[in-house]
Amino acid sequence: MDGQRFLGKKGERVSEPENRGLPSHVAVIMDGNGRWAKRCGLPRVEGHRRGAAAVDACTAEARRLGIRHLTLFAFSSENWHRPEDEVGALMKLFLTVLRTKRDRMAKNGIRLRIAGDRTRFSRELQDAILETEEATSHCSAMDLTVCANYGGRWDIVQAVRSALREEPLLARHPESVDEELLGRHLALPWAGNVDLMIRTGGESRISNFLLWQSAYAELYFTPELWPDFTGESLRRAVVWFQGRERRFGRTSEQVSERG
Ligand code: FPP
Repeated sequence: MDGQRFLGKKGERVSEPENRGLPSHVAVIMDGNGRWAKRCGLPRVEGHRRGAAAVDACTAEARRLGIRHLTLFAFSSENWHRPEDEVGALMKLFLTVLRTKRDRMAKNGIRLRIAGDRTRFSRELQDAILETEEATSHCSAMDLTVCANYGGRWDIVQAVRSALREEPLLARHPESVDEELLGRHLALPWAGNVDLMIRTGGESRISNFLLWQSAYAELYFTPELWPDFTGESLRRAVVWFQGRERRFGRTSEQVSERG
């Protein structure tokens, strides 16, 4: 039993999550890169670089645990308002990550996809995205979705537009629009509902991330800054998730009866 346990960072023991009841879809709002950098007396971009290293650690641990879908919020539709040099540095970092991690992701069975409006990215970045998506398209161990230039409201609006484009007759039969139909047109239909949403950096809000998909997500907020988030941090969140009672609108008694 002890061999299945890990020593927590601050001395507490973090259990190895059970295989049963693992969240199928974990989504992460990676917040706190800037504060981490400031705390270390470094430029903000260094916080993002360390954040990219935390992405590696979190992805590897999610894959090891057997989580099916990991979705990361890397750049929101609103992040364009940041100082130009920070936006430029983030774009450069995305490009580097795509180019340097592609082979390792493919080797580890990780399928990478980008969700979001990519038309605003440089041609070079759009090409690197397509190349990485293509190079990992055969992978089936885990889906890693990076949301970039993404917003939850944008996603719902684009889903409606996409549905109408594909089935123009819908406009004359609005009653045939249902959740299942719209769900198929969302930016990441492969991942489905979020089971566990994690936000680092001490804030307690969803910030326009996966609004539709998180309707019944368990929300886990941690003060840890993203660059400090480790595989062990992910295990801690998953163990917390496994202790939650998910009722989906039913009573606690009903849930117990259904087993
Ligand atoms: C939020 O922290 C973080 C971002 C806007 C960028 C996230 C990017 C990465 C983790 C780098 C690489 C990612 C991938 C997927 C390759 P913040 O800057 O808002 O931090 P603050 O609230 O402390 O200022």
